[in-house]
Amino acid sequence: MTKSTSGAGGGLEGIVVGQTAVCTLDGRMSYRGYTIEDLAARAEYEEVAYLLLYGELPSAAGLQAFKSRLGAAAELPAPIIDTLRALPANTSMMDVMRTGSSMLAHFDADVADNGREANLRKTERLLARLPLVMAAKHRFDTGRTYADADPGRSLAANILRLVTDREPSREAEQAMNISLVLYAEHEFNASTFTARCVASTLADLHCAITAAIGALKGPLHGGANERVLEVLEEVGAPDNAESWIRDALARKVRIMGFGHRVYKDGDPRTVILTPVCRRLAEATGNQAMEQTADVIEKIIVADKKLPANVDWPSARLYYYLGLPVSLYTPLFVCARTAGWAAHAMEQYANNRLIRPSAEYTGPALRPFVPLAQRG
Ligand code: CMC
Repeated sequence: MTKSTSGAGGGLEGIVVGQTAVCTLDGRMSYRGYTIEDLAARAEYEEVAYLLLYGELPSAAGLQAFKSRLGAAAELPAPIIDTLRALPANTSMMDVMRTGSSMLAHFDADVADNGREANLRKTERLLARLPLVMAAKHRFDTGRTYADADPGRSLAANILRLVTDREPSREAEQAMNISLVLYAEHEFNASTFTARCVASTLADLHCAITAAIGALKGPLHGGANERVLEVLEEVGAPDNAESWIRDALARKVRIMGFGHRVYKDGDPRTVILTPVCRRLAEATGNQAMEQTADVIEKIIVADKKLPANVDWPSARLYYYLGLPVSLYTPLFVCARTAGWAAHAMEQYANNRLIRPSAEYTGPALRPFVPLAQRG
């Protein structure tokens, strides 16, 4: 019998399946050697995306040139705008992102070129355009018209402006920026591993990103941030929180935003995001939701020893920024595209087809019974 390598609990738990220079969670979580604490406190998302893709932090001139290229690419081909307008109003926004990523391939002149330069150009276009796909569909769903990004503004500011039609405060833009930095990359998570598997077949970058979006949609991965808000809305006032969570835990309900395959003692992203979330809650009069979240978190940590993961504060943060719940996981897509692309390019640069084996658990060999003789 083949030896099982699926990890102690299955799901490849604890198994090292490859090498990467993009990010590590060992010791301090870092992107290419820079801690996420430093990056979240001091870098713009665009700088971090550049770091992930090019391997080094940009110079001031390099960052300006990168932003100019993103600004110039921030437009959607007319047929994509028409298609987004034609999609049913209740389409899942993650399905819209998946379709959008796939459609963008058809209008990208570099689509079939898997070389590093072409992949960098394609990634820059995806970084500029996927937020527009998200914003455009949301604008159509809410009775508004298509609007272009402002090439002179940050990705964080553009997302907030296009979704809310309001000028974001400096605090709102910074909070959005930090969430994008923290969502940008996370080693061999399920969606990144998906992207690497697709890249390992030498399929093109748009295929890898589109597949990764599908993997991110699931509630055990990126989809958790939308369900966090559903929980908080269902619980309601802080006074209901203790009885709600004790009842849910007794019924063995899986509480979204808690637990992590790698972090058993705490998610460093949560530590960074929670105070940002608290400040924003105060600024926007949402202290009651913070109190509710606090009661739930304390009980889950005490009773189940499960730490809150990044989705726990990020969902609240997006709520306080006035963003609709349906966009929370698509926002994760906008940020993580940089990490996915960095991994796909790393895979292409030193490729070997990812093709593991399975332990067979089906029937032993048996004689074929012709159709006419089967009962
Ligand atoms: N609520 C309640 N119980 C939980 C939770 C939770 N969120 N997470 C794990 N457990 C329990 C689980 O029921 C099991 O208990 P028992 O041993 O009694 O059966 C035990 O903890 C181990 O769970 P597991 O599913 O084997 O652990 P895992 O390492 O595979 O889980 C996880 C990782 C993220 C899938 C899981 O913690 C989970 O489902 N969390 C909720 C979804 C979520 O928040 N996902 C976001 C992850 S971080 C950001 C991202 O990637 O998007």
